[in-house]
Amino acid sequence: MKFNPVLEKLTPYRAGPALDDIRRRYQLDSVAMLSANEVPWGPFPEVVDALKTVLDGLNRYPDGACNRLRSLVAERLGVSERNLVFGNGSCELLMLLGQAFLSPEQHAVIPHPSFVMYRLIALAHGAPFSAVPLKNLDYDLEAMLAAIRDDTSLVIICNPNNPTGSYLEPAALRAFFDQIPKDTVIVLDEAYVEFVTSPDWEESAAWLKDYPNLVILRTFSKIYGLAGLRIGYGIADPPVVEALDKIRQPFNVDTLAQVAAVESFRRPARVEERRQQIAAERVRVAARLDEMGIRYHASEANFLLVDVTDLGIPGPEVAQALLERGILTRSGYAMDCPGWLRVTLGEAQEGDLFLSAIDELKQSDAGRMPARVVNGLSAESLSPES
Ligand SMILES: Cc1ncc(COP(=O)(O)O)c(C=O)c1O
Repeated sequence: MKFNPVLEKLTPYRAGPALDDIRRRYQLDSVAMLSANEVPWGPFPEVVDALKTVLDGLNRYPDGACNRLRSLVAERLGVSERNLVFGNGSCELLMLLGQAFLSPEQHAVIPHPSFVMYRLIALAHGAPFSAVPLKNLDYDLEAMLAAIRDDTSLVIICNPNNPTGSYLEPAALRAFFDQIPKDTVIVLDEAYVEFVTSPDWEESAAWLKDYPNLVILRTFSKIYGLAGLRIGYGIADPPVVEALDKIRQPFNVDTLAQVAAVESFRRPARVEERRQQIAAERVRVAARLDEMGIRYHASEANFLLVDVTDLGIPGPEVAQALLERGILTRSGYAMDCPGWLRVTLGEAQEGDLFLSAIDELKQSDAGRMPARVVNGLSAESLSPES
């Protein structure tokens, strides 16, 4: 068969097994799922109620233009409805951006390490790309600018960055945008923006008038607790939105996702409550790590990147040792962040489980036992690549 040659460079996404599987294999009563940067809470209660009311209508196709959500988002962000495009998760929008702007003749600049999809969209479209290393886990914007070539059509930046949690303040971002050629699209992935509490934060949608080449991506998967429904949106200049509309499926966002997003978006007070709760947990966990003498990277997101090089076991084995204690995290060794481990923050009870396990590994020589691998399942193979 004549497969597209770009496929040779790609491997399928390997989803982790179900929590029940992990529980059974490691004989655990429960597993703290701290590996995929989801919130531990479900959708808002009003969302669940609204979803029940539309189940009987699922014989009909969804609204292909997401009109209700479109007008709500446009009004809140102060943009035109023509500035918005909706996707089956922001991952779909990234794929569409790849289709619209990347090819063997169109180069991309992406940060590294950062979200795994950026590399994937370049590879999937046979596009050359420069993965610009972070400097001390923060962006090296000078190096990203230096990597831009005449054929660069896409520059991606994730703020706060996954997996480091690093946050770029508005002035630095805008100074960076100022130096990017006007015919190069800038993708600003703000999957974690709702968790930011930095006082200098600005609504980036307002920057669109200064940067028509800017595409902002947001998702309902994180703070809104809707990762299972798959819906995200992009804010961009109409020609970019029109390009993505040309290549997306007509009904790419299903009815349940639209209803859930509308009900969620109408409840900023609930979002604020979650933001404050996660921020308090971030401060609390950081303070405990300080007490233990364990380093972490400053984060404005719902996760922390923690230094695992000074525990009782070698760094690469820490995620596995935590898993055996019922805590699923994401090893930095699987994300080109050796020496670090990413832990999602949510409920204090789960945060405490993580902290006590880390403390135990730091204090005790028992932690020096090599990590167990049960039935070929290891922490590396269990963590979804979020
Ligand atoms: C930086 C970043 N962007 C996008 C996404 C994907 O979001 P969605 O669930 O909307 O596809 C994630 C998911 O973890 C992410 O970390």
